[in-house]
Amino acid sequence: MPSIFHLEIGADRLATLTFDSPDRKVNVFTRAAFQELEEMLGEVASRRDIGCLILLSGKPGSFIAGADIEEIARVTDPVEAEAGSRLGHRLFSAWEALPFPTVAAIRGVCLGGGLEIALASTWRVASDRPDTKLGLPEVRLGILPGWGGSTRLPRRIGIAEALDLILTGKTAVGRKALKLGLVDALLPDARFLDEVRNFALARLDRPRRDEGGLDFKELLLEKNPLGRKILFDQARKKTLEQTRGHYPAPLRAIEVVRVGIEDGVKAGFDAEARAVAELATSRISKNLVHVFRLTEEAKKESGLAGGEPRPLAATAVLGAGVMGGGIAQLIAAEADLPVRMKDVRDEALASGMQHAAALFDKQVLRRRLSAPEARRKMALLHPTLDYSGFGRVDLVVEAIVENMAVKQEVFAETAKHVAEDAVLASNTSSLSIAGIGAKTPRPERVVGMHFFNPADKMPLVEVIAAEGSDPAAVNTVFAFTRRLGKTPVLVKDTPGFLVNRLLMFYSTEALWLLDEGYRIEDLDRAMTDWGMPVGPMVLTDEVGIDVATKVAHILHDAFSDRLPLPEWFDRVPASGRLGTKNGKGFYRYEGGERKGPDEAVYGLLGLHPEVEHPDPGAIADRMVLPMVNEAARCLEEGVVRSAADVDLALIFGTGFPPFRGGLCRWADQEGLARLIAILGRLESGVGERFRPSDALRATAAAGGFYARFPAGRA
Ligand code: NAI
Repeated sequence: MPSIFHLEIGADRLATLTFDSPDRKVNVFTRAAFQELEEMLGEVASRRDIGCLILLSGKPGSFIAGADIEEIARVTDPVEAEAGSRLGHRLFSAWEALPFPTVAAIRGVCLGGGLEIALASTWRVASDRPDTKLGLPEVRLGILPGWGGSTRLPRRIGIAEALDLILTGKTAVGRKALKLGLVDALLPDARFLDEVRNFALARLDRPRRDEGGLDFKELLLEKNPLGRKILFDQARKKTLEQTRGHYPAPLRAIEVVRVGIEDGVKAGFDAEARAVAELATSRISKNLVHVFRLTEEAKKESGLAGGEPRPLAATAVLGAGVMGGGIAQLIAAEADLPVRMKDVRDEALASGMQHAAALFDKQVLRRRLSAPEARRKMALLHPTLDYSGFGRVDLVVEAIVENMAVKQEVFAETAKHVAEDAVLASNTSSLSIAGIGAKTPRPERVVGMHFFNPADKMPLVEVIAAEGSDPAAVNTVFAFTRRLGKTPVLVKDTPGFLVNRLLMFYSTEALWLLDEGYRIEDLDRAMTDWGMPVGPMVLTDEVGIDVATKVAHILHDAFSDRLPLPEWFDRVPASGRLGTKNGKGFYRYEGGERKGPDEAVYGLLGLHPEVEHPDPGAIADRMVLPMVNEAARCLEEGVVRSAADVDLALIFGTGFPPFRGGLCRWADQEGLARLIAILGRLESGVGERFRPSDALRATAAAGGFYARFPAGRA
């Protein structure tokens, strides 16, 4: 067995323990690692020749990434989960009780269990390299820090700051970590090991005495029971608001932190272990772990077989509107490439540049970028009304009006000004990529690159390959998407691609419910209660009612009987309601803020909102099940390659609730037979459009979405 921990003891009584898991890119605490650590602890505890022990990582870019996610995914027995937590307590407490001081020398990421052993060390020092990040991301996996972190962290940095880290799972970079008191020193990376040695040599045989370090204001609040009660109550309230009660882990973490502070370390550890036993074996945690693995798997995906992405030196964006401005900024910010931003109107260019500048300002404000860096990147953007400089451009991203004739003409024109092998990408939300490229001399170089609004925030890009697309062009867009920090999902050139197609089945059903007399706000509440970030009516307002109507018609033309539209549908945009962009939609807006539903809508459409006490579960079924039905068709048609792609795309493109694990995973868990039965009832009770698709029946017969459409299919 190759060993994971390596001990070296110097003549100066300085010892180093290096964590270096063979065959892994990062260190994680597997069972094997724990076992070895336990043996190592037994060995060093009695050594008299150690005056200080430094914990180091043998991995160049990271310290310790936490627990082994596969072990978390696997555990189904609460007794086993609890034992895992208690083992961590025992080992890290033994580490804490070593007869000499210990120094955790953190360089690169230090997450979860990594931070928990660091917290059990006498001292913590971190490198000042920018990728040094410390955090406890457990709640993102539906669990909580269960190896002493929930109990030790508030003792080190105070309750309020500890809750902030534990409840959000966010990380602190070096400087912030120092300010929080999470580390004792920030050391220059270039001389890291030397500096760590000096730090440790100065502390040979010196136990830590300066516990605490909280300032007066914090002490007042945190050391008296009433102050603490306020703190915990506030945290609970805020968490409930943010999670709508769908995520039990952060609420439980608040309780565990409270017990640890009020009843002592041992009680804190007991509370941690009991919480882990329940949370780690829950369906929600399993779903969140599933989503985490989907994102990890997606990082390994490549586009189409048979074509290398081409290197890019210069880019252009056509259209400086809502999307174009955001995309141009993203290219400069993330890919650090020059972008020519072309529009046909001066004012549009000015507002596109303003939009980009505002996004950079935000990054500076959040300290994601220094002001000089932001200025340098902003200078990568070149607004233009003509095609000057396009000869050097390798990739064009088009984001002009959603009109086939205009796009065709613009693509044909653009093709004349760029090199023959430049890739032309379109951000269209609903038009055929093959159609858009049809008038260019090399349509195989035209690819879809569908961002979601707002482009700086939404993590998904659908990369759309048309029939006959050149794999090298598709893969160029695929790789470029990743360079922008987004997750690409490869999608076939079919109406609505994947996400808008599924969403249209969801939001159109909301219109039918409205038609039956449901109230606007009841429909939205049913879906946000279900876990969607916004309900269907708010979504339509945000997308733009004009845009939504256009896409709905395109999809209705493609899927006619499956996607009927209420006859009053076009009256909404015709009444001047465009949604949030003009402050008039299904809701009323004042000063850009959404107020109540616009009661005038009912009169306009001849509707009578008369459904009292609506059943949210039944409403959710009406909107979610058509998506499930259609997802089976999409997979059968090969619109995307796997059930995992559907789930990832909906979570990243629409905010589909991660705690449900994704649409297909949710459907599999509910049982497809049961969902088909509900669809059958809706078909006879409400309308033919609910008829369970053959694709869904075949998927049920094959054992579910993940059984029939596993990842890794060609
Ligand atoms: P927008 O109306 O805000 O911007 C379009 C811009 O294109 C305008 O500034 C216009 O002057 C400019 N333009 C028109 N013809 C042009 C030409 N021949 N050459 C250069 N510029 C020209 O539209 P938005 O919302 O940014 O949408 C652009 C594209 O992105 C559309 O295809 C849309 O379907 C797609 N999209 C929109 C999303 C959204 O939520 N708004 C989301 C994803 C895709």
